[in-house]
Amino acid sequence: MSQVQKYPAGWRLLHWLMALMVLTLIPIGLWMTARAEADIWGRLTDTLYSSHKAVGFAVLLLMIVRISVKIWLKGPPYPDEMPRKLQMAAKGLHHLMYVLLVLTPLFGWAGVTAYPALVTLGGYHLPAMPFVPQGDQLAARLFAIHGALAISLGVLVAGHITAAFRHMIRKDGIFRRMI
Ligand code: HEM
Repeated sequence: MSQVQKYPAGWRLLHWLMALMVLTLIPIGLWMTARAEADIWGRLTDTLYSSHKAVGFAVLLLMIVRISVKIWLKGPPYPDEMPRKLQMAAKGLHHLMYVLLVLTPLFGWAGVTAYPALVTLGGYHLPAMPFVPQGDQLAARLFAIHGALAISLGVLVAGHITAAFRHMIRKDGIFRRMI
């Protein structure tokens, strides 16, 4: 395993790309469901759903790359001055975010398979998730889990951003490792 002081360039690129994707997926997800609940159907609602599904599925695919990168490359070590408990808390939060970044899109994909509503941007169809039968009640349950996971992910992301800002203000070198 290679040891580096900064995260490798590809890792940093993937981090910021996925940060942008997740930070748009959450508000778009909330906006499109609010429009659907208010029965505001039309081109905009359709586009929001289609782009949400396409970008969300891309997050799932990118997570395969990201997990492989994490397994193969070792990130830079934390500075010795950083308390052990804080290091463990940071690692725990990162692992939990990885879990939610896999489960959230998986449940979204399962939901659109059960519904079924697999069409995305430009009329392109996502593949159906294997072994997931069709059914309204099943789809509703899967979407409810998807929404709860997405909100939990949003809370963790907010904590992660707060911690990043703290490191930025303290200039302790942690934030610079990812830019
Ligand atoms: C990290 C990836 C994802 C995030 C953060 C995310 C986030 C969200 C959020 C915040 C909502 C609103 C939930 C609510 O109002 O209760 C939502 C709804 C939805 N998402 Fe995702 N999503 C992701 C991936 C996906 C994927 C991969 C698909 C499908 C391929 C998908 C399909 C949907 C659909 C169809 C809804 C509406 C569900 C309903 O009408 O109840 N999402 N998502």
